This record gives sequence, structure tokens and C-alpha cells, in this order.
Amino acid sequence: GKEAFIFDLDGVLVDTATFHYRAWRRLANELGFDFSMQQNELLKGVSRMQSLEQVLTWGRMQQAGLDKEHLAEKKNAWYLELVERMGPDDVLPGVLAFLRAAKATGIRTALGSASKNARLILDRTGLQGYFDAVIDGNAVVLSKPHPEVFLRAAEALGAAPDACLVFEDAQAGIDAAKAAGMSAVGIGSGTALQRADLVVAGLADLKID
Ligand code: BG6
Ligand code: MG
Repeated sequence: GKEAFIFDLDGVLVDTATFHYRAWRRLANELGFDFSMQQNELLKGVSRMQSLEQVLTWGRMQQAGLDKEHLAEKKNAWYLELVERMGPDDVLPGVLAFLRAAKATGIRTALGSASKNARLILDRTGLQGYFDAVIDGNAVVLSKPHPEVFLRAAEALGAAPDACLVFEDAQAGIDAAKAAGMSAVGIGSGTALQRADLVVAGLADLKID
């Protein structure tokens, strides 16, 4: 059995993956181009600055001498406008019951997110008390698919990697879990989540055992 569960945040516990998509698209549109929902899959799980690099590549704007820090801040401000409206009702279906059941079974839980806004989102949605450890984008240097974030989470929980189960909606996140030597549950559509040990539509579809 698994002793520890590590949860991604955006797209697993809350629907903020759609907010990221809207904010990046708004930036792309302002720069004069667009990208598809399919392309957006490649932004999931990836850090803010790496996402910006990807978006600029799609727009063929890598050589345009743009102020990248400024663009990233702009996208984040638009993203935060959407986050500001969030509350406890925005926790995805089945999440609270799943987290409570994990606790009741004695399983340790951690957040393993690339986001620098993770603590803000946990506070706004009332999820902050559910985790024994929170490892977020402020604590890691290397972006998923590098395993750093999940290895740090396992360490914080005092669990061996092979005793950890990761819940992820991003291909980069599944790859990171596998690189860490962990098992992974993919959340969302199966085709986008190759290598996951199991794929479900959401945590509402899962039981602890
Ligand atoms: C991840 C998201 O959780 O966090 C990515 O899947 C996002 O899309 C990344 O780019 C960084 O988020 P933030 O909030 O620090 O810009
Ligand atoms: Mg995610």
C-alpha cells in the first residue's frame, strides 16, 4: 500500500488550469496571435517563465526583444483577477471527501505544485489545512517533468518515493512522478496522460482502497 499521497493543485484540486489558459491566451492575443487548447496541454505543470517561453515560441516572438518579466507579470495579474473570485465552492467535486478519507486512513498528504500562487489558492478555497507539507513553485528550482517537486514533497513527508502516489492532470507531472520513482494517477483525459498507472476523470471517481 501507499503511505503518502502527493497532489498537484491546478487542474486536480481546483479548476485553475482553465484560468491559466485564459490568461495566457489573453497575452498571446494582445501580442497578435493565438494558440489552441491542444497546444495548451504543453503549458500544464510547467513553470510560469517556461510557459511564457513556450507561448512566445508559438507566436514566433522569441527574437522580438520583449521584456519577458513584464509579460509574465501581466499574465499573472490577469490570472489573479480570476483567482480573486474563488472561494470554497471552487474545490473540484470529490476532492474534500477524498482528502478526508486519506487522512482517516492514516495516509500523509502533500501538495506538489509548480505554482507560486499555490498558498493563495489554498487559502481562498479553504484547502490549506489538508496537507502535511506544501511544496510549491517558490520552493523548487526545476520545473516538471523534473522530479524535484515530488522528491521534496516525499522528503517532507518522510516517505520513500515508491511509497508515494501522485495525482496529476499534466503530462509533465506524470513524467515527473515517474522520474521520481513514484506511481501516478492521471486526472482528466486518457490520451493526454500517457504513462499514468491509472486515469480517472476526477477525484470523485476514486476510492482510497
Ligand atoms: C502549474 C500550472 O500548476 O503552475 C501551470 O499547471 C503554471 O500552467 C504553473 O504555469 C505556474 O503557476 P504560477 O501560478 O506560478 O504562474
Ligand atoms: Mg496541474
